[in-house]
Amino acid sequence: MIERSSRLPGFSKLSAEQRLAAVATFAGVERESLDPLMSPDNGLPQSIAAHMSENNVGRFSLPLGFATNFRVNARDYVIPMVIEEPSVVAAASFAARLLRDGDGIIARSTEPIMTGQIHFPEPPAEGVLEKCLEDHLPELKAALDRLHPRLLAAGGGFREARVRRLAHPDGQVIAVIHIHVDVRDAMGANAVNSMAEEAAPLFEAWTGARVGLRILSNLPKHRRVHVEARVALKVGGGESAMDPDEARRIVEASRFAEADPYRAVTANKGIMNGIDAVLLATGQDFRAVEAAAHAFAAYEGRYTALAKWRVEDEFLVGRMDMPLALGTVGGITAVHPAVKANFKVLGVTEATRFSEIVAAVGLAQNLAATRALASEGIQRGHMRLHARNFAVQAGASESEVPQVVAAMVALGRSDHQAADLCLAELRKAGVV
Ligand code: MEV
Repeated sequence: MIERSSRLPGFSKLSAEQRLAAVATFAGVERESLDPLMSPDNGLPQSIAAHMSENNVGRFSLPLGFATNFRVNARDYVIPMVIEEPSVVAAASFAARLLRDGDGIIARSTEPIMTGQIHFPEPPAEGVLEKCLEDHLPELKAALDRLHPRLLAAGGGFREARVRRLAHPDGQVIAVIHIHVDVRDAMGANAVNSMAEEAAPLFEAWTGARVGLRILSNLPKHRRVHVEARVALKVGGGESAMDPDEARRIVEASRFAEADPYRAVTANKGIMNGIDAVLLATGQDFRAVEAAAHAFAAYEGRYTALAKWRVEDEFLVGRMDMPLALGTVGGITAVHPAVKANFKVLGVTEATRFSEIVAAVGLAQNLAATRALASEGIQRGHMRLHARNFAVQAGASESEVPQVVAAMVALGRSDHQAADLCLAELRKAGVV
């Protein structure tokens, strides 16, 4: 494979057309194959959109950009991100540059195991469900795998089942059987839900107990990514180094988030800024990922930060462990032209590798946000980016925007009135 670099200096200065050409060159694909990314409807015809969800009236656009500089497990990636919030894409690219040395960000994923739940509201006596699994496991596996021959052929399928007994706060005991399914490159909701529904009447027949719900769990505790990133410490910092004092303040900020749920939620929100943006660009079930991330952050009984930063030897080291249920097949991955184009740019087909990249973006995003917060704060850096929005809203044309922004920054203001004022002044002076 040809080694490609996601270090694209000057990328932010290019026109949108030039950026897409650079992305196509990076990805080694025809520029035309990325056309859906520039078309107003992303190539998604109304005729298809109309059948995706109900009471449809049209399609809905959000800004798409690419984060550069990412290196994950010794391979470079340019990352598609769909997000309306200014500074997220810039921040991800900035942190990715700090973290690219050597093999870059190191991410390891588990096997793609999803969990289905079969609920027994009035469970049989203790031991009955366990005995049922002992007696019928091969039969259960055969029945469930039969539903998904393609999953089986791809190396996935039913793996195991476990019984859990839970006491409701009012003292009533319920039971749940968890089925664990290797869903390979799918997000897995369909496969697991159909297996859970198939398993329910079998359990009823084998035990005589009534089944309540049968549904996927959106806490995929067994489908996880561990990601680790490091940046060398050097007095004065640099392109791929950080000043030790800055690193010390990042560790302080990390410890704050680890100790305090109020801060942890905000830090985790910053992580999800990066993660959700990639998930939107790639047609993923971001609601499932959000739900899982926050549940996992509270799994030990107290909500805490997903990412932790420490100084170790001469490095600032960040680590994060989180569940990620993503799919490179199924859902809208084969239907939505922009999603397909974004996967071409990413160049990944395996869901495990995809989830490693997504987790790396989350950790990088956390570093960028924490670094900004632990130094000058985020408002100054945001000012120029927000100023662009205000300039556009004030009616500045594409060619006027940069000068209006420069005037607003010189004025030290980023608000509607400042944009109106700067645009009017520049027009009056005949500068724009
Ligand atoms: C803003 O969208 C995200 C941050 O608040 C994240 C954080 O506080 O770490 C900047």
